Amino acid sequence: MSDEDLQEQRERLLDGWDAAAKGWGRQADRTRDSALAVSEWMIAHAELAPGQRVLELAAGPGDTGFMAARAITPGGTLISSDASAGMLEIAEERAAEQGVANVEFKQLQLEWIDLEAASVDVIMCRWGVMLTVDPAAALRECRRVLKPGGRCVLAVWDLAELNPFAVIPGAALVALGHAKPPVPGGPGMFALSAPGLLAEMLADAGFFDVVVEPVAISEYYSNVLDWLGQTRDRSHSFGKVWDQLSDGERQKLRDQMAEAASAFADGDGGFDVPGSVLVAAASA
Ligand SMILES: C[S@@+](CC[C@H](N)C(=O)[O-])C[C@H]1O[C@@H](n2cnc3c(N)ncnc32)[C@H](O)[C@@H]1O
Repeated sequence: MSDEDLQEQRERLLDGWDAAAKGWGRQADRTRDSALAVSEWMIAHAELAPGQRVLELAAGPGDTGFMAARAITPGGTLISSDASAGMLEIAEERAAEQGVANVEFKQLQLEWIDLEAASVDVIMCRWGVMLTVDPAAALRECRRVLKPGGRCVLAVWDLAELNPFAVIPGAALVALGHAKPPVPGGPGMFALSAPGLLAEMLADAGFFDVVVEPVAISEYYSNVLDWLGQTRDRSHSFGKVWDQLSDGERQKLRDQMAEAASAFADGDGGFDVPGSVLVAAASA
């Protein structure tokens, strides 16, 4: 791909995130609760201490960083950042609601972190690096802005087959001919899910003491409509297709999802659907 094509791809992806910001805001409490084990792992491995300067990248609604903000008082500051201005607005609202005061907000792009070298103690990034056009560049940037001995804690999605909560809605669109199958390669949810890949990339970026392990999560949907609502809110591409479907097509989609998810049905109309996240910690 030419540099222009890569830049166009970045801009298109970012437009999608901006468009999804309000939906991520609507789903933020649910996301925080269903992925709490991931945030807790990241906090436990970040070696947080009062007075530190912590950078959250691709923060979205910001909740993982807000947990860290509490752990670095007194004297510590969180920089909550995202490439999307819309996401930053959501994070600012949530910080105010949660009474998190030791936080600054900054629009930052993972592949070019606009901060000085060796200027932060801890980097946190949940579900961001695999979305970039050049994740190796993003990890090198993380290494660059960390002080010597600083900690980097990340989360990326594990293999697609371990994440039916995310895969079933899109697969149903494909099965019904409303969408094309995802193109392998390229940025996306599962781009860094291959066994060993994240650890290798962290080592290549200059990190040491690299640890990567899976954390199981699950998400509960009271019925297929609830699941669809969550998916539309979080996925701009899914929402765009959904908006164009007729009532009959939407009903077929619901049926297709219910059938694909029958193994996760709770017998009461609800679905308890598993997911798996790769968490990583490393030192600079
Ligand atoms: C899947 S959401 C995760 C949000 C949040 N970290 C969480 O765990 O709930 C991905 C976030 O990454 C941001 N993002 C996507 N590409 C980015 C990039 N290249 N640089 C910085 N942020 C990016 C999006 O705007 C979005 O807020």
